[in-house]
Amino acid sequence: MRFEIVTLFPELFDVLRTGLLGKAQDAGAIDVHAITPREFTTDRHRTVDDSPYGGGSGMVLMPGPFAATLDHLDEARAGNPTHRVLLTPQGTRFSQAHAQRFSDLECLTLLCGRYEGFDERIRGLVDEEVSLGDFVLLGGEAAALALIEATARLLPGVLGNEESAADESHAESLLEYPQYTRPEEFRGQKVPEVLRSGNHAAIARWRRKESLRRTLERRPDLLEEADLSKEDRVLLKEINDEA
Ligand code: ADE
Repeated sequence: MRFEIVTLFPELFDVLRTGLLGKAQDAGAIDVHAITPREFTTDRHRTVDDSPYGGGSGMVLMPGPFAATLDHLDEARAGNPTHRVLLTPQGTRFSQAHAQRFSDLECLTLLCGRYEGFDERIRGLVDEEVSLGDFVLLGGEAAALALIEATARLLPGVLGNEESAADESHAESLLEYPQYTRPEEFRGQKVPEVLRSGNHAAIARWRRKESLRRTLERRPDLLEEADLSKEDRVLLKEINDEA
């Protein structure tokens, strides 16, 4: 999958050379192209922003350099389609469902704003607007990085183990169960007995129950949307009875 990022700070995306995503790039599972609209300015100062019409403080990103960057990317892709996403706190809240949907695409083009804002006509250049959450960043770059990581890890060959992505928090709208490794006892806290029992059915049941317990405690809103089985309802009743 190809990720194109339109940003005034393409060097921020060098971090994607680290760890599993670096390996994914080396293996050709993902392709990352960060490009700056400054390259597509026509004046000596490479201007990408200007003061807002109507007055006010701060600068506004101009539509021209962004549009020219997108045209350049379209040409380089030789007619292959992409899906354009603008990162902005005004977008729909990013979720696992977005990551799933994006991971089916051949190409995703992410536009990152900076400074006080961007010219409204930049909105007309994209297919959708996505926000990382209800807070304001200095620009869309950190949001784009999170979006890329959440999407790329769903692609075949990016996580070593194909099952891991499906197993985890939010894949199925339940939070993940607690995990333990050695040592068996750490600062007085022991690994639950059942996990050392070798009884696979008992372990699976314990994990499902703890998954339900954690979701109930921390994100009851997720439980309402979850597709719960009869066995899940039995486990939830046990949890409620324990309280
Ligand atoms: N740009 C600035 N803040 C943002 C946010 N919360 N999500 C996405 N892009 C942003």
